[in-house]
Amino acid sequence: MFAIFAVPLRDRFEALGRDLRTVAADLVGQRAAPFSARAPLGRHSRVIPSARDLLSARSVRVTEVVRQTADAVTLELAFERDTPAWHAGQFLTLVVDIGGQAYRRAYSIHTAPADGRIAVTVKRVRDGKVSNHLVDHVKEGDVLRVLGPSGTFGLAPDRAMGAHAVLIGGGSGITPLYSIARTLLGTREDTRITLLYGNRRLEDVIFADALATLASAHPERLTVRHVLEEAPAGWTGGVGRLDAPTCEEELSRLGGLGDLASATFFLCGPEGMMNAARATLLARGVDPSRVHEERFSSPAQRVSPAPTTAQPITLRKGGRSTTLVAAPGQTLLEAGLAAGVEMPFSCAMGGCAACKVKLIDGEVASDEPSCLTDRERAEGWVLTCVSRASGPVTLEIEGES
Ligand code: FES
Repeated sequence: MFAIFAVPLRDRFEALGRDLRTVAADLVGQRAAPFSARAPLGRHSRVIPSARDLLSARSVRVTEVVRQTADAVTLELAFERDTPAWHAGQFLTLVVDIGGQAYRRAYSIHTAPADGRIAVTVKRVRDGKVSNHLVDHVKEGDVLRVLGPSGTFGLAPDRAMGAHAVLIGGGSGITPLYSIARTLLGTREDTRITLLYGNRRLEDVIFADALATLASAHPERLTVRHVLEEAPAGWTGGVGRLDAPTCEEELSRLGGLGDLASATFFLCGPEGMMNAARATLLARGVDPSRVHEERFSSPAQRVSPAPTTAQPITLRKGGRSTTLVAAPGQTLLEAGLAAGVEMPFSCAMGGCAACKVKLIDGEVASDEPSCLTDRERAEGWVLTCVSRASGPVTLEIEGES
């Protein structure tokens, strides 16, 4: 899963040509891939790169496969051309070919930008076609295609930070948090970091040794607290699922959290953990603007019914308007890009909200789940990458024309 960011980042995709056609082929007629993480709503920069940049997947070579746990592997990746810049907390969307079909999945980058290398860690998801393929079959020397880095989560250049960063994660949600922690340790000497990390069992803990090494190297600045659902005998860390009572207990237990009101929080993990952590923080009076989330969601099979007829789409942007026709089955994004309209997008699978536009008129059918919040849906936002026009529609794209 990881991946699910502000930042100007999708403007780093390779300049096109053949890739444009390749990626467009991936987009057209494909079901939206389930997303594993999301960028919290309302924090996406409206970067409008050129259509050619938008559509280009880049090739990366797998330079090393490192097994982290029985169910998780790290893929060290090398871009075949220039390595793009990114910030801690961002993700890559892997375009994985399995059985002749391209699947897209987002995985957080767990290396730090200062490392000069990019790696993602993939944890097996039960019955997950892509995660199991990556964990079981990808080997050194393989070439994968990726979109991104993407996402507004983490240490975006415009991120306001307090003197204390509290990271709360579960399972493979550690990946962006690990990058954030290492980046803060290397770049922000005035920032203290507390990591609360939940797992089922000790053997499920990703980066266990690396976290221990990091904590002992920075005893004054980094506190790591592991919480296990099934703790072994003699365990001195936290015990239990990271639900609201456990989050509350752990936050109370951790020393030095008296500055919660001014701390910056980064949450990443399973939905239940995320909701519990967020509720606990808000109940403690933490300003929601200080809580940053990267969500993971279970893959869903449900997709929107594909319209059987072409539909007219009017795109409005900055006072100008363009009308085009979406072919049967085309998403709004595919139709817009095919018509040469510069439309924002990032993950292309419903997981980041970079492509959200306002539905002004008409109806669309959208694949689910997606990262849109109930509030966004109520306000009329739709994701162009996973939505198809059910009839004539008018959409408003944010940004300058
Ligand atoms: S591009 Fe990420 S949700 Fe549409």
